[in-house]
Amino acid sequence: MSHHIVDFSKVSFSYPDGTMALRDITFRITHGEAVGIVGANGAGKSTILMQMNGFLLPSSGLITIGDHQLTKNTRQEIRKKVGVVFQDPDDQLFMPTVFEDIAFGPINLGLKPEVVEKRVQEAMEIAGCRLLRDKPPHHLSGGQKSAVAIASVLAMHPDILVMDEPASNLDPKSRRGLINMLRTFTHTKIVASHDLDLILDVCERCLVVREGRVVADGPVEQILTDKTLLEENNLELPLSLQKTGYNKPNKEDPMNDIEKLRHLLEHWAEHNIDHARNYAEWAERAKAQGKAELAEVLARITEETRNMDALFQKASALCR
Ligand SMILES: Nc1ncnc2c1ncn2[C@@H]1O[C@H](COP(=O)(O)OP(=O)(O)OP(=O)(O)O)[C@@H](O)[C@H]1O
Ligand SMILES: [Mg+2]
Repeated sequence: MSHHIVDFSKVSFSYPDGTMALRDITFRITHGEAVGIVGANGAGKSTILMQMNGFLLPSSGLITIGDHQLTKNTRQEIRKKVGVVFQDPDDQLFMPTVFEDIAFGPINLGLKPEVVEKRVQEAMEIAGCRLLRDKPPHHLSGGQKSAVAIASVLAMHPDILVMDEPASNLDPKSRRGLINMLRTFTHTKIVASHDLDLILDVCERCLVVREGRVVADGPVEQILTDKTLLEENNLELPLSLQKTGYNKPNKEDPMNDIEKLRHLLEHWAEHNIDHARNYAEWAERAKAQGKAELAEVLARITEETRNMDALFQKASALCR
């Protein structure tokens, strides 16, 4: 499933005032990886993340998301797959109510009103902002705004979830909720944060960025226990390691796996419905072009695909 891959090749970026924020950045993140990005203030973390959905475009070098090179022309399409939660929620929220903000993306995907409603409800539930539904986002507290920004991205059902300091405004309970959500999100996720305990809990791999360059890239337990490397980058050992030393978090317990599988099945089921819709549409088009036999085969493919729905539902129910 190459569509979940994020590939930076020799990416450099300068802001319009001449600040050279990224210098020759190369890395590849593959399907299902959970990657933390850490580094001092001003190191370039947010600039990297803002390139991932084309909010900023490289001054030189190439970014590939899935099978597509990221350009002005492809970024609209790529934004359907890559959901970015910005560091400042004010950059993300612009509609008159929380509901409209969260519904904005799904409506733009062309989803039916009842599907939009379901996605918004579900995202508000996960992000813990259900009670804020009718409030104007600019009247919310910092943490509430962050929760809404997170919900607005989750409602898009992104294949690649990118978060910039998602927990910095959250109270401890909401932070824990976010960590649990991230741990069950089985697709590619990329999180920039100074909250190294969160990175340790959620990620398997970690990049260290300094002055616009990637200076380290490795397993999270190796990077976040390297006191010298961390200190060179204005960071400290995660708090959980300062007290107790490193105990590998149990990321592989069987319950967790089944939970992961249930989320995957729901995702596959959704793709399955999308695929069936595409096949049906192409069957109609083939018929309109006078290709009756082709249309018939496509109609059968549509039917078989729709039949799979029940199997996905059943498998998903068996995971509970
Ligand atoms: N809009 C801008 N115009 C000019 N320079 C900018 C702009 N935004 C960021 N920079 C500069 O680009 C560099 C990288 O900034 P960036 O925001 O990516 O850092 P960061 O690693 O996310 O820092 P923090 O930990 O504080 O969030 C910094 O030198 C910063 O001053
Ligand atoms: Mg930043």
